[in-house]
Amino acid sequence: MSSKNHFMFGICLVILFVNGESIDYGTALAKSLLYYEAQRSGKLPSNQRVHWRGDSALEDGKDQGIDLTGGYYDAGDNVKFGFPMAFTVTMLSWSVVEFREQLHSQNELKNALSAVKWGTDYFMKAHKEPHVLYGEVGEGNSDHQCWMRPEDMTTPRSAYKIDEQQPGADLAAETAAALAAAAVAFKKFDLGYSDQLLTHAKELFDFAKRFPGLYQTSISVAVQFYGSSGYEDELLWAAAWLLKATQDTTYLDYINEKSSSSGGTRSTLSWDDKYVGAQVLIAKKLLEKKFAGNESSLLNEYKKNAEEFICNCIQKGNSNIKLSNGGLLWWQPWNNLQYVTTATLVITSYADALSATKNSLQCTGGNVDPLQLITFVKSQVDYILGENPRKMSYMVGFGTNYPQMVHHRGASIVSIKKDKSPVGCHEGFVQWFNKNAPNPNVLDGAIVGGPDISDNYNDSRGNFQQSEPATANTAPLVGVLARLAAS
Ligand SMILES: *[C@@H]1O[C@H](CO)[C@@H](O)[C@H](O)[C@H]1NC(C)=O
Ligand SMILES: *[C@@H]1O[C@H](CO)[C@@H](O)[C@H](O)[C@H]1NC(C)=O
Repeated sequence: MSSKNHFMFGICLVILFVNGESIDYGTALAKSLLYYEAQRSGKLPSNQRVHWRGDSALEDGKDQGIDLTGGYYDAGDNVKFGFPMAFTVTMLSWSVVEFREQLHSQNELKNALSAVKWGTDYFMKAHKEPHVLYGEVGEGNSDHQCWMRPEDMTTPRSAYKIDEQQPGADLAAETAAALAAAAVAFKKFDLGYSDQLLTHAKELFDFAKRFPGLYQTSISVAVQFYGSSGYEDELLWAAAWLLKATQDTTYLDYINEKSSSSGGTRSTLSWDDKYVGAQVLIAKKLLEKKFAGNESSLLNEYKKNAEEFICNCIQKGNSNIKLSNGGLLWWQPWNNLQYVTTATLVITSYADALSATKNSLQCTGGNVDPLQLITFVKSQVDYILGENPRKMSYMVGFGTNYPQMVHHRGASIVSIKKDKSPVGCHEGFVQWFNKNAPNPNVLDGAIVGGPDISDNYNDSRGNFQQSEPATANTAPLVGVLARLAAS
């Protein structure tokens, strides 16, 4: 290489370096936590930072004689769906448990814990008796017929529950997982609160184990929107979190007992399918030798499947996940990004465990070191944040080019703080949904459904498959963004 080439090579490296570092993960992290404030239901606290929102749904639970105010609206609508809400809180808690130091160094630990607590306070209100849990407030069909701000809602706010006669092991176990994971997240911060969460988590796990069944057979209004395909995965996932929270070996016994139905190699981690989550928690414990002489060969089944999932994501497995031309993991046209964000948390978490234990991952396609895993995670996160063929950020409010017509009732209608006159059920569609203009409120930190397999995105409110965000989409990224921002 001549000295001139050396010089050019040097410049290229500098440019690459600058480009590579140009994504501001810290800002994306801060926005991701603002998003949970925008999704809040109930009476907003005085330190609320998203000012275009107001109090809403202050009578939730009244028809059943209990207080069910609080919790989160799910996506672009105003229903409180307990099943995906619990998964969201589990993923937020996992983010905190795993990346506590990094969240702290980014000054976002308190905001992350507040996001968890807004969910767990609600779950405890919804669980006043050991074997009764409210799993939905509001109803999809009547809600979807209206386009209203949450502050103006006139749609039915019926509350739906599971109990011994009408059980729902998936819902009870996912809520147990959320509360157990949150108990771990809160342990160093507020031990009293952590203990309270754990008591509820144990009772709900017991309820789920003793009263099996799919929750939508009891809460039939949920089936069309969040029908569950099984409850064994939630039970395992809850057991894995309870083991982490308590070190009580009865949960390990449960995990050992169920190893013959450990789920096999999954293709996603999602609000419906938690096997990968359970498998990875167990695999990490095996790597870290945390079972103290109790590593049965049965547990290796979980590890094998967790690793195969990761190998498939990074294109070195036996059954690789598709990639778009632009390099995004691709499963399906409707809300594809929900699966991308969960995969990035799984891979990041496992990469760090491999690194801490001086291991690498053996895939069919070769040996993979932890740094390669993180590089892959970055490729996905960077794509989401704008390094893609359309140069569009799929995190709302991040960068200069992001979706403007997000399918979201509250964000698409003028803020109640600016115009108090109520916007009616149909008026909302006529004046705001159909308006060919950007949303008046920027839903910072929301992750929309995302592009199609050809990396195209149609920025339109009617195109809900691509333009509707959901609380489950952003939650895993909280941890991943903290990890990337701090490294
Ligand atoms: C192994 O697990 C059993 C119960 O499953 C427990 O009683 C025992 O203390 C555990 N051993 C160690 C070394 O942790
Ligand atoms: C974008 O989506 C809207 C709503 O689904 C649809 O009416 C419109 O035709 C789509 N535009 C393109 C270019 O596909």
